Amino acid sequence: MTDQKTSSSSSAQSNQMWGGRFAAGPDAIMEAINASISFDQRLYAQDIRGSRAHAAMLAAQGILTSKDAEAIREGLLTVLSEIESGKFVFKTALEDIHMNVEARLKEIIGEPAGRLHTARSRNDQVATDFRLWVRDQADAVIGGLLALQKALLAQAEAGADWVMPGFTHLQTAQPVTWGHHMMAYVEMFARDSGRFRDARARMNESPLGAAALAGTGFPVDRHMTATELGFDRPMANSLDAVSDRDFALEFLSAASICAVHLSRFAEELVIWSTAQFRFVTLSDRFSTGSSIMPQKKNPDAAELIRAKIGRILGATVALFTVMKGLPLAYSKDMQEDKEQVFDAADTLMLALAAMEGMVRDMVANRQVLEKAASSGFSTATDLADWLVREAGLPFRDAHHVTGTLVALAEAKGCDLPDLSLAEMQGVNPAITQEIYSVLGVHNSVNSRQSYGGTAPDQVRAQVARWKAILG
Ligand code: ARG
Repeated sequence: MTDQKTSSSSSAQSNQMWGGRFAAGPDAIMEAINASISFDQRLYAQDIRGSRAHAAMLAAQGILTSKDAEAIREGLLTVLSEIESGKFVFKTALEDIHMNVEARLKEIIGEPAGRLHTARSRNDQVATDFRLWVRDQADAVIGGLLALQKALLAQAEAGADWVMPGFTHLQTAQPVTWGHHMMAYVEMFARDSGRFRDARARMNESPLGAAALAGTGFPVDRHMTATELGFDRPMANSLDAVSDRDFALEFLSAASICAVHLSRFAEELVIWSTAQFRFVTLSDRFSTGSSIMPQKKNPDAAELIRAKIGRILGATVALFTVMKGLPLAYSKDMQEDKEQVFDAADTLMLALAAMEGMVRDMVANRQVLEKAASSGFSTATDLADWLVREAGLPFRDAHHVTGTLVALAEAKGCDLPDLSLAEMQGVNPAITQEIYSVLGVHNSVNSRQSYGGTAPDQVRAQVARWKAILG
C-alpha cells in the first residue's frame, strides 16, 4: 500500500469533516503542513479495527441501532479491502487516515457513516490506533531479537571451546572462548527483548472512549472496546489517555539501547573481518565489493548496522523534544510522533534481520583466533595466579614478578611459554616446571570455572539454559 497515490485537492471548500463554522477552505500551505495522510496511512488496519470495535460497542450500549452498526462494520471491511488491494485513493484534503476512512465509508454506506464518530474524537482514535501499531511493532522486534539470539546460540554452541583473545581497551587481556563472546550478546539482546516486553505490557491499555479529553456523556462501555482490541483494560484517566505518548518514547528508548548493542557488535565484525585480524569471514551474501579495488570484500552490512543507531537515536531525541513542554491534553504537535516511530521501527527491524543473516553465515577462523589468543602475553594473569596459589606470594608481589617476566619475554621477542625455567627462576626462585601448565590458552580458559566465566563448561551450561528459555 506504500505506492498508493495521494491526491492533493486544495479545493476552496471547507473541510467536510469539521468545516461547519468555516466559510473558506484552507490555504494550500496550511493543507500541506496540516495533513498527515502521506504517512499515517500506515495506521489503516488499526484505525479500521478500532472503529469496528467502537461501532459494535455503540450498538451493544443502545447508542446506535444494530442495523447502523452492522452497516458501518461491513462498510469498514470494504474500505479495508480497497486499501489492501491498492484501489483506495488517499486525499490530502481529508488530512489523515481517520477522516479518509470515514469519508470513504460515507460514500459506501451513506448516512449511518456519520454516526460512527458518536462518543469518540480523533484524539482518542489516534491514540488508540498508534498504541495498537506500536504494540504490533514491539511484538515484531521481540521476534527479530529471538531469531538473532538463536543465530548467536548456534555460533556459541559450535565454538564453546574455541579460544580467542579477550580484549580490554582493545588490547589483549585474557583468553576467552568464542562461545563466551557470542553468549555475551545473547544476554544483551535478552535484556533488549525484556525492555520491549515491559514497554508492551505498560502500553497495553485502551485510550478509546476518552473522547476529546474529558470522557463522554454517552453510556459507553470502555471495557468492552478494550477487550475487543486486546488491551488489558481501559486507561483510567481520559486526559492522560489522549495526551501521553510515553509508550512511543519507551519503544524508541528500548530501540535506541538495542541499536547500541547492534552497533557495538557490528563494530567488532568490521574489525574482526579485516586482513589484519581475520578472526571471521563474512559471507558474500552480506558483503560488497569495490568498483576499483578488485581484492576488496567490504563488510557494508555491519557498517550500516553500526550507523543505524544514528537514525534511531535521532528519532528518539526528536520525539522527546516534541513532547516536552506540551500542556495537557492533545496538541497537534503530537502528530509529529508517527514518522519518527515508523522510521525507527523499520530501521531496527532491518538491522536485526541483517545482523541475524550475518551471524548465521559468519565463519570463525578458529586457527587464527587461537594463534591470536596465544600472543600478547594473554596468560600473564594465569601466571600471577599460579604464583599466588602454588608459591604463596601475595597477589601484588605475583603481579610484579609476572610483569618482570613479561618485560623479559618482550625484550627477547618471545612469548611467556618460550622462557626457560632457568630464566623464570632467575626472576623468582619459587617457580617450578609446573608453571608451564598454566601458560597454555586452553588451560587458561578451562580454569575460569566461576559462574558466568569463560570456561567451555560454563559456556555450554549457558547455551543449554538459553536453549531451554528460547525454545
Ligand atoms: N492526525 C492527527 C494526529 O496524528 C489526529 C488527531 C487530530 N486531532 C485533532 N484534534 N485535530 O495527531
